[in-house]
Amino acid sequence: MDAIVRSAPLIPPAPKVHPRPLGGSFVGELRIALEMGRSLIGAYCEEDFESLVTPYMFMGQHGLFVNNPTAVRHVLTSPKYRRPVKAARSLKPLVGEGVLMSEGEIWRRQRKSLAPVFTPAATGGLLPHFIAAGAGLTETLQGQNRANLAQAFHRATLDAVLRALFSRRADAEGALLADLARRYMEGPAHFNLMDFVAKGADDLLFMDGERRRIGKRWFTAVEALIAERRAKPHAEVRDLLDRLLAARTEDGAPLPDQEIRDQSSSMLAAGFETTSRLLFWAAYLLALDPDTQGRVRAEVLDFPVERVANLDDLKHWPLLRSVLFETLRLYPSAPMIARQAFEADEVLGCPVVPGCTITISPWVIHRHRKLWDAPTAFRPERFLDQPHPWGIEAFLPFGAGPRVCIGAGFALAEAQIILASLLAWFEIGVKSQRPVIPVASITLGPDHAPDFTLTPISQARP
Ligand code: HEM
Repeated sequence: MDAIVRSAPLIPPAPKVHPRPLGGSFVGELRIALEMGRSLIGAYCEEDFESLVTPYMFMGQHGLFVNNPTAVRHVLTSPKYRRPVKAARSLKPLVGEGVLMSEGEIWRRQRKSLAPVFTPAATGGLLPHFIAAGAGLTETLQGQNRANLAQAFHRATLDAVLRALFSRRADAEGALLADLARRYMEGPAHFNLMDFVAKGADDLLFMDGERRRIGKRWFTAVEALIAERRAKPHAEVRDLLDRLLAARTEDGAPLPDQEIRDQSSSMLAAGFETTSRLLFWAAYLLALDPDTQGRVRAEVLDFPVERVANLDDLKHWPLLRSVLFETLRLYPSAPMIARQAFEADEVLGCPVVPGCTITISPWVIHRHRKLWDAPTAFRPERFLDQPHPWGIEAFLPFGAGPRVCIGAGFALAEAQIILASLLAWFEIGVKSQRPVIPVASITLGPDHAPDFTLTPISQARP
């Protein structure tokens, strides 16, 4: 594993990179499966960070590992590719048939019905919820001189999503959802051997008991949220749940209960775990780099969170925003995006047969030696002169194409406000010298949750 280098520039921790490819034989493939079962980013070799496209065979199935940003965008926008059928194995127990998993006409209808919740104007209207979630976080941390911020961010981001999309606070029901999501991501969300061997979503499911058990409890908790709203409906449409309950199919019928549950579950699952990871890694990087932390704090104290009234106000924190982008580059919350070819194609001269899996790894692309200067260094300034980092082809933390993350603006606004709230109250550090190594399942989490030290910022408070 890489050591933390504390002199400038900071090279934050990452898992070891294998000197040579692990595959090429039955034993090699088994080793890849075991490494990837532990962590999806655990099997990369040096060559992967140099190559732009690599065809491979894995467990008898064709695959193409694509790092070339233009080719990646081709795959993510072409109708010849869809999310792999097998992705359902680890995701479906938590999100059912909601927008994350649906395809074709159903996906189009679901995505269209969600769009109004995520326009910039609608996101601007959610800022008070994010401010309340940030205030809730700092309140719970008052009086503590050390804290498990991984857990605290988990609660805070669930609180933000529940407030913004479901007009609920993260009370007992919320704590249960946070706990279930964490147990799922740290446990059965990891690939098991059968996920690699299986040909489809529904075969060889005998290792999936834990997925089903946690998924069932998660759905029960989401159904309770919906039942409560049905019992006490709002007078007018105020949030995502109202919108789903008011929505009608083309025949004028209300959406089936299962679709309302699956859409709600999808938004909850997609909406808080990813942002909570982003906040964790940003806090960790700032704890390792006190100088940058101090400069971000100066921005936040110059324009305090309480003054944020609209999305434009967030422009007062350019370095904070750049820190979040640099965090998403080094530690992308969604470290792996996969597609399956449904028609023959050609990518960078490599033939693609129907059924072929296209592996797109923001983890590798964001650290690729031919695509970035000092790819492993934490240098938030690289984003300072980039008002639209989406224009950087090799930067795709939220994916690309028609299935690009619908919640990107939501997540960034929320993360800026929660991190600003924390930094305005506390100087953060990490006591332990043990590096925190990222571990990937569906999201990119830490191998252990370090204790952060919290030193109150002495200043007059309004
Ligand atoms: C740091 C935070 C986040 C990151 C890094 C992230 C990343 C991603 C990525 C990479 C995808 C595309 C996956 C693919 O193409 O296969 C995606 C899709 C999606 N995200 Fe996010 N996400 C974040 C936050 C959110 C939030 C806050 C919400 C909602 C409240 C959300 C809702 C969704 C949904 C519904 C999709 C599926 C879109 C579709 O298939 O049409 N995400 N996200």
